[in-house]
Amino acid sequence: MSMFRPGVFKGKVAMVTGGATGIGKAITEELLTLGCKVVIASRREEKLKEAVQELCPNNGRLVAKVCNIRKEDQVKNLITSTLSEMGRIDYLVNNGGGQFPSPVANMSLKGWNAVIDTNLTGTFLMCREVHEQWMKDNGGVIVNIIADMFRGIPMMAHTGAARAGVDNLTKSLAVEWASSGVRVNAVAPGGSIYSPTAAANYEDKNIFSKAREGIPTKRLGTTQEVSSAVCFLLSPGASFITGETLKVDGGGSLYSYLMWQIPEHDKLPAYSWTYKPSEEDNGDDVPPKSK
Ligand code: ADE
Repeated sequence: MSMFRPGVFKGKVAMVTGGATGIGKAITEELLTLGCKVVIASRREEKLKEAVQELCPNNGRLVAKVCNIRKEDQVKNLITSTLSEMGRIDYLVNNGGGQFPSPVANMSLKGWNAVIDTNLTGTFLMCREVHEQWMKDNGGVIVNIIADMFRGIPMMAHTGAARAGVDNLTKSLAVEWASSGVRVNAVAPGGSIYSPTAAANYEDKNIFSKAREGIPTKRLGTTQEVSSAVCFLLSPGASFITGETLKVDGGGSLYSYLMWQIPEHDKLPAYSWTYKPSEEDNGDDVPPKSK
C-alpha cells in the first residue's frame, strides 16, 4: 500500500516520461493509486500498451502517448495534445532516459551525443514546453529523476555528465520559475534500485550483488522506495522544498564505491619538493619587518 492518503492527488494530472517500465512504472502506479490521472510518454509503443493493459485497462485514468523526448516538435505536440485531452498538467516527472556502458576511451561522439540528447536535452525540452504551455500561468511541480553521479560514474560517464547537468538545471529552474508557482526538485536513485528493466540493461549480471556490498543498508532498494520520494516532492507536504535533490540510495553514496576496482599503478606520481635556503640569498627581496 502507498504510504500517502488515498485520493491525495484526485483531480490532478501527471505526465511521466518513461512511465511504462522500471522506476517510471512504479511512479505511475502510485500516482494512479492516489487518484491522479497519468499520461505516460515513451518512444516504445509496445511497452506503453502493455502498461495501460496491466495497470488501467478500463477507467481511462491512464493515457499513453508515443514521444521521443529528443525531438522538439514531438515534445511540443505531446504537451499540446495532453492539454487538449486532459485540460491541465499539474505534475511533470522527467524519468525517461537511457545509456549504454562504455569506457570514455571507446565512446563515439554519436553515442555521447545520443545520451546527452536524451537525458539532458530531453529533460530541458519537457520542462520548457510544459512551463510554456501550462505551468507559467497555472503553477505546477516538476521532479527530475537523475542518478547517483555525485562521484562520477565510471563506464557511464556520458550519463553521469548529463544527470549532473539535470541536477544543476533543477536548481536554476527552481529559482527562475518560483514566481510562476512552480517547484522543481530532483530525485537521485542509487544504482542499487532493483528493477527487471534495469537488470536487463546491465551486461554484468552480478552488478546488483556487487552494489549490495557497498550499501549501508546491505540490501537493494525497490522502485516503490523511489516512487514514494517522488510522490512526497509532488505533494503539498513538500510545498517549501524547491531546487533540492533527494538521494534514495540506502546511504550508498556515503560509503566507499566498490563497483569500480582500481588496479595498482604508478602512473600518477606525487608532486613534492623540499625547501632548501639558498646561500646567496642576502634577504634583499624580503620586505622590511614592521616595527
Ligand atoms: N526513454 C528513453 N529514451 C527516450 C526517448 N528518447 N524519448 C522518450 N522516452 C525515452
